[in-house]
Amino acid sequence: MVRRSVVAGSGSYLPARVLTNDELARQVDTSDAWIVERTGIRQRHVAADGELTSDLAVRAAQAALDKAGFGADAVDMVLVATSTPNETFPATATIVQAQLGMHRGLAFDIQAVCAGFVYGVATADNFIKAGQVDTVLVIGAETFTRILDWTDRSTCVLFGDGAGALVLQAGVGEGTVADRGVLSSHLYSDGRHHDMLYVDGGPSSTGKVGVLKMAGRDVFKHAVIKMAEATEAALSANELQAADVDWFVPHQANRRIIDGTTKKLGLDREKVVITVDRHANTSAASIPLALAEAAGDGRIERGQLVLIEALGGGLAWGSNLIRW
Ligand code: UT7
Repeated sequence: MVRRSVVAGSGSYLPARVLTNDELARQVDTSDAWIVERTGIRQRHVAADGELTSDLAVRAAQAALDKAGFGADAVDMVLVATSTPNETFPATATIVQAQLGMHRGLAFDIQAVCAGFVYGVATADNFIKAGQVDTVLVIGAETFTRILDWTDRSTCVLFGDGAGALVLQAGVGEGTVADRGVLSSHLYSDGRHHDMLYVDGGPSSTGKVGVLKMAGRDVFKHAVIKMAEATEAALSANELQAADVDWFVPHQANRRIIDGTTKKLGLDREKVVITVDRHANTSAASIPLALAEAAGDGRIERGQLVLIEALGGGLAWGSNLIRW
């Protein structure tokens, strides 16, 4: 018998304001046709003035708790994966903890940019497997539109705001791939690629927040190769084939990256959850937003095998295999 981290609920939240490609094309030299062809993105959500990352996170967490059927008092640990915290410190997770009305347990942020949710699931799973906690809220929440250079057409068209959350709860399994829960996590980083994707500011360097800088073409190449490797590692560690996967829920950065990875893995396109067209790239929030959507509309069912993967700034990347 082994301890497993079983999905008890999922939820998400998107800010009300939708920004279309056509609206963006009135601000920078771009077009709906270019953005759709190169990325698959048609629109993105943008947080309202005064609407903070913690606000999005709390809404998503509340929705996930409602699905799980229990209150915040049952949660032992809150993880918020974000690169757009409310403040330099304290952790946004502690703000979320307070707003959920949790007066015990622990809360901290995970910083792995677009791979943050994958890192968060791995961290939650390890805490649960170690017996240190029983119930974890893993949240990906971002107000990425606040760190964009709105005059740089090569980046400002790509990102959006949003939040998604999973409740993971300790369960008991047989130690086989038939168990419900997180079956494996594979995490990687390579700091030599810093300059490919970073924000040009911070408390210790410039004293200012800074804006996102990306060498898009280079990131693209690494993304397809490294995410395919991370997913292959997940399958081989569990002695499974691509055909065994019921749902592939990749990080939603670019439709062409998703299609490239899907092809490389030999996965059926019908099994891929896509939200990038409506959400754009919401960094750490993209996977839990997609999971909540596909679980909410009945596509992902209890007992199915769900493969998630992401790559982002660092570079940092990885995958989790979850039996829902
Ligand atoms: O989640 C974190 C990971 N991030 C990613 O995964 C993003 C990875 N990269 C990408 O998704 C793509 O590389 C982009 C969407 C960023 C760019 O697509 P691309 O096909 O790699 O285009 P490119 O950078 O090679 O640019 C092609 C052309 C350039 O013009 P020239 O030099 O060929 O004349 C750009 O200036 O497209 C131009 N361009 C644009 N044109 C219209 C760049 N951005 C735009 C734009 N509208 N918004």
